[in-house]
Amino acid sequence: MMNSSTAPMAASSPPTIDIEGLGLDQGALLLVRRALAVLPEGGCLHVLGSAPEWDLHLRAWCRQQGHDVAFSTDASGRLRAELTRHGMALGRWRGAQATGHADAHAAGALAEQAQPEWGLAARGAQVEAGSPAYAFGLREKHQLWADTAADLYAQAAAAQWDPATAIAWAAPFELASEIEAAVVQLMTYLIENENAALLVPARHLGQIHPHYREVVQLLALQCADEARHVEVFTRRATLRGGEPGLSTAGGQASLKTLFDAPDFSTATFLLSVLGEGTFVNLLNFLHAHAPDPVTRQIARLAARDEARHVAFGMAHLEHRLAVEPDYQARLAVAVQQRHEELAGTAGLNEEVFDALVLLAAGNTTVAAVARGHAQVQELKAEMAAGRRARLQRLGFGRDDAQRLADMHTRNFM
Ligand SMILES: [Fe+2]
Ligand SMILES: [Fe+2]
Repeated sequence: MMNSSTAPMAASSPPTIDIEGLGLDQGALLLVRRALAVLPEGGCLHVLGSAPEWDLHLRAWCRQQGHDVAFSTDASGRLRAELTRHGMALGRWRGAQATGHADAHAAGALAEQAQPEWGLAARGAQVEAGSPAYAFGLREKHQLWADTAADLYAQAAAAQWDPATAIAWAAPFELASEIEAAVVQLMTYLIENENAALLVPARHLGQIHPHYREVVQLLALQCADEARHVEVFTRRATLRGGEPGLSTAGGQASLKTLFDAPDFSTATFLLSVLGEGTFVNLLNFLHAHAPDPVTRQIARLAARDEARHVAFGMAHLEHRLAVEPDYQARLAVAVQQRHEELAGTAGLNEEVFDALVLLAAGNTTVAAVARGHAQVQELKAEMAAGRRARLQRLGFGRDDAQRLADMHTRNFM
């Protein structure tokens, strides 16, 4: 009996707000909305007010929002609105919630499939019914996800460098003209490869549903990395006033197959796991044999970025193969098809090969060229061994990994 006298009292006293003389069009609606937001469906709110025609405005707003409202006079003779929060208002948000949590590491954060109607909304936001559907082509987790995407994004954000200050462009050096020409030819080759490394992910980036925002953010920074690489290789190519060197049909044919890859996972496999992985070896070689400080610095900075791009490619393929083991056969077919398509092309441009030999040699004496040539052969063996190791990490048997590693384009990317 003691409890029964207090409980009904509480239930019969709805929360009351007094908006005084503040009009609904002067901010009072914010106060009404805040007070309603904490009520359950069917909950009641009393509003006292005195602004001119506030009751008419409130009635119109309630009709629009689906809330019930009635008016009465309180004990002191003031007009009082009695609002009932209604289902229609709640239903605006019902059934359209973007599942998940802002933090990808939280339990249940990511949907296996993002809905077109979630659109551009923040992950975890309540999305109003009737929001437009966005036609993102990549909206299934297995098509694009990597478990380390958030960590790699944080690393990438922390590792961005400024080409204007990170490289000592004015450092003094003197090179023999054939060595300078070799550097310029290498830079020319690197630039076209960097253009592919920028544009291939960029074409997929715009198709990824932003529910998977860590991947979108990471790829955006990856594109920014490649933009810097294009810049610094261009600046080095033209640093001594020379014109860019040769771009061959074989090199461009190799890069074009990356644009023709059937989906994001295959493009990432060919570009990042095989191509950029090979490029890390190439850039390390260039760092070791660079004839001048500018070339040495840009090779080192680019290699560091490329290692991150390879890490994402590996993490994505590891995720995809974990949930779809049959996909491995499609990767093998992609390498074979690319190999057949490029069989009639020359592969690595001869001038690029000679430039690498010359940089390792340091001069054009027979003994130096013999040493440089041997070092480039070692580089190619190291590149193939790296590809084989990554393929084995993705679950290919040793023989298959060796065969596919050897089928990789002679253009390196
Ligand atoms: Fe790059
Ligand atoms: Fe890259």
